[in-house]
Amino acid sequence: MTFRIAPSILSADFARLGEEVRAVAAAGADLIHFDVMDNHYVPNLTVGPLVCAALRPHVKLPLDVHLMVEPVDRLVPEFARAGANIISFHPEASHHVDRTLSLIKESGCKAGLALNPATPVSYLDHTLEKLDLVLLMTVNPGFGGQQFIASVLPKIAEVRRRIDAAVAATGKPIWLEVDGGVKTDNIAEIARAGADTFVAGSAIFGSKDYAATIRQMRERLAVL
Ligand code: DX5
Ligand code: ZN
Repeated sequence: MTFRIAPSILSADFARLGEEVRAVAAAGADLIHFDVMDNHYVPNLTVGPLVCAALRPHVKLPLDVHLMVEPVDRLVPEFARAGANIISFHPEASHHVDRTLSLIKESGCKAGLALNPATPVSYLDHTLEKLDLVLLMTVNPGFGGQQFIASVLPKIAEVRRRIDAAVAATGKPIWLEVDGGVKTDNIAEIARAGADTFVAGSAIFGSKDYAATIRQMRERLAVL
């Protein structure tokens, strides 16, 4: 199993974002997780395509854009133009989920579906084959630094089973990314449930030594 660590810039110093993404890239991150909040789908407001485009020249790592916005479609080509590599959205925020997935692919990005803790896995019934990634929320979206909701662990295992079946049938990889409350202390348990990609905001940007924190996370994953 290949594990990936995706620091979420939501907990970075927004006054020094370029420096912060360069620092986590140098510290061994695999992806940069870019949280987009609109004060409508979620009760918080963050950054849009302009900031994505401004960060693009600072890192070679894939930009993993997590759209917590409603509606979704208009922003997809804008983020693709701004240098996004992966775009995920919440199915409740799009009237036409399949159309939005096609739009992401046509824009040249990998596509992900983000499921909140109470959003049913059945959203994957007619979408999984089109996905490059399933983003499972282990907090309610909107804020960094929230407590991991452990009751989502069996859901991670269920999505892992579905992904393994789809990959066996098609051979196309699908990542299982977990977002919210991921720390050094619980990352192994989350991996054992079936996740391969880990978003961590406060755990990394709230630490003094980003490289040491990412290394500790990898150490916990290495012994699985
Ligand atoms: C929450 C965001 C997360 C957030 C995670 O709505 O989608 O990506 O930054 O932050 P932590 O790791 O602090 O829970
Ligand atoms: Zn996120």
